[in-house]
Amino acid sequence: LSTVEVDVSSLEPGMSLTVKWRGKPVFVRNRTEREIEEAREVPLSDLKDPEARNENLPSGSPATDVDRSAGEAKENWIVMIGSCTHLGCIPLGQAGDFGGWFCPCHGSHYDTAGRIRKGPAPQNLAIPLYEFTSDTVIRIG
Ligand code: FES
Repeated sequence: LSTVEVDVSSLEPGMSLTVKWRGKPVFVRNRTEREIEEAREVPLSDLKDPEARNENLPSGSPATDVDRSAGEAKENWIVMIGSCTHLGCIPLGQAGDFGGWFCPCHGSHYDTAGRIRKGPAPQNLAIPLYEFTSDTVIRIG
């Protein structure tokens, strides 16, 4: 199937789940206020990859927290392809120096917005096309 629907009603802030989409893992995380604040405070000039890499936005959009998230009204939600942009390992959640994701293969650290902050990965974790079809259901693809 080219699309998958995910029921996120059981995800409290701080929780995440992984679904399979087109053979790849997709991470869905309901971020806490603190995680959002941390991501918002990062100046764009600190980012190794300043692009949002968000298929729902025009290419070249900046990697601000809101542009990495599901948007202003749903900034707590983040949906990303769980494939390290270095060589494709699956990063671990709630891990690494920036509290986001950590790829154990060669040590790439991503922040709570899935942006690469340290290590060999060249790009932020990719964000696939998706939309909320209701308050609790996300359609990916
Ligand atoms: Fe993730 Fe190399 S594949 S750091």
